Amino acid sequence: MKNITVIGVGYVGLVTGTCFADMGNRVVCLDVNDERIANLQQGVMPIYEPGLEEMVRRNVSAGRLSFTTSYQDALNDPDAPAELVFIAVGTPEGVDGEADLRYVRSASESIAEVADHPTIIVNKSTVPVGTGDWVSDIVVHKQATTVPFSVVSNPEFLREGSAISDFLNPDRVVLGSLDRSAAECVAQLYFPLRAPIMLTDLRTAEMIKYASNAFLATKISFINEIANICEALGADVKEVAIGMGYDKRIGRAFLDAGLGYGGSCFPKDVSALAHMANVQGKHPQMLQAVMQINADQRRNVVTKVRDLTNGLENKSIGILGLAFKPNTDDIRESPGVDLVRMFQQEGALVKVYDPVAMQNAARVLKDVHLCEGPYELAEGCDAIVLTTEWNEFKNLDLLRVRRTMRLPIFIDGRNLYDPNAMYEMGFIYRGLGRGYGLPPLNGHSAKTDGTGNSAKQKNHPTPGTNDGK
Ligand code: UDX
Repeated sequence: MKNITVIGVGYVGLVTGTCFADMGNRVVCLDVNDERIANLQQGVMPIYEPGLEEMVRRNVSAGRLSFTTSYQDALNDPDAPAELVFIAVGTPEGVDGEADLRYVRSASESIAEVADHPTIIVNKSTVPVGTGDWVSDIVVHKQATTVPFSVVSNPEFLREGSAISDFLNPDRVVLGSLDRSAAECVAQLYFPLRAPIMLTDLRTAEMIKYASNAFLATKISFINEIANICEALGADVKEVAIGMGYDKRIGRAFLDAGLGYGGSCFPKDVSALAHMANVQGKHPQMLQAVMQINADQRRNVVTKVRDLTNGLENKSIGILGLAFKPNTDDIRESPGVDLVRMFQQEGALVKVYDPVAMQNAARVLKDVHLCEGPYELAEGCDAIVLTTEWNEFKNLDLLRVRRTMRLPIFIDGRNLYDPNAMYEMGFIYRGLGRGYGLPPLNGHSAKTDGTGNSAKQKNHPTPGTNDGK
């Protein structure tokens, strides 16, 4: 059992603190936001994360988890002084893609000013390579009297929506420090998880996080580029990804073509890594291409709709899904939110629906029609764009959707549906990278049946049905 303070009650901090408490440690979660802490003390979560509320409640009742805004209370409880202080504050994207470290700075300064006993400062926030050394400098300069401390980098690899299970079943735990015994002390916390633990130096640990996220983003942009080529050549990217994924060197994960990556991590981390490279005079060509392809995926969808509706002025467009991915209410860098704005810029009237992200969306979107469900959204639409593959969208009554639309145009930005089933229901359906409207490979245009769907595609064996989904 260790005494732990976690600074920051966002996705990373709250999940980390709660899971450590669940593993039997005594954890105080601290945040400078009074409202968030007051709510947590009442059992109200600041974020939507499956399983978190129940786990918080259980550990608060057991006396292992508490919340405060006071550094003094969090760090210096005479009965349980914090041995380990995790920094899990936000590092938003600043100017030129550079990570904005103001919250990391203020957390480090507060630790330095308040801690009255030796501590290990563990950085979980995603920070530019070299930040661990910078944190050390800040603490040294801010301490009124010298109190020993060490800095360890322990990057998080949690996915929103499955953060608890990712925390408890990690593929690996990375710990970087110049102080081996400090890293080993943090490693003890993770022993019960029976995961591989890698001890390395500070900067390498920080880089592992960026390189991992950049690689995953690269896989997504790669398959999106392949999708665009598939579309032009009449192949089906879903099947291509399955066929590629059987190769163990490639793997099937993160090869879902669609509207591309969003969220609080990939966009900002790829951009921050490119910025770090540029500052060092390197030319991160692949990272630039990854970002470019990701942005283009959104533009391509607008083009698809514009072409099918003969312009967007005064057209009614329904956006189905606003969260950047399913099982989260997070709309940061979300394709759905971006598309709303892009369609509005071209004069379209936009309706939106998302199962859990409506409140967040209402705060940032202007002049949209907020719908209570997918069927209300479909009413009178000239086109619908599915942007988030929520489970509840998998079993929609699509005939009902189709019947209430003004024009039956459906753009499936996550390749959720079976194209042939959609054609049979009378939709003018487009996935991304699914090879309809086949180009004239042999010099002849593919015949169409007036729905805008290719006749050949209709007779094509049902694609995308053998991937176990
Ligand atoms: C990610 C990393 O997975 C996690 O390890 C890291 O620490 C934080 O960032 P998260 O942002 O929660 O987690 O989302 P993730 O599930 O990784 O998906 C990121 C984005 O990529 C989503 O927008 C998702 O829709 C998109 N995606 C994912 C694809 O477009 N295709 C895929 O095949 C996989």
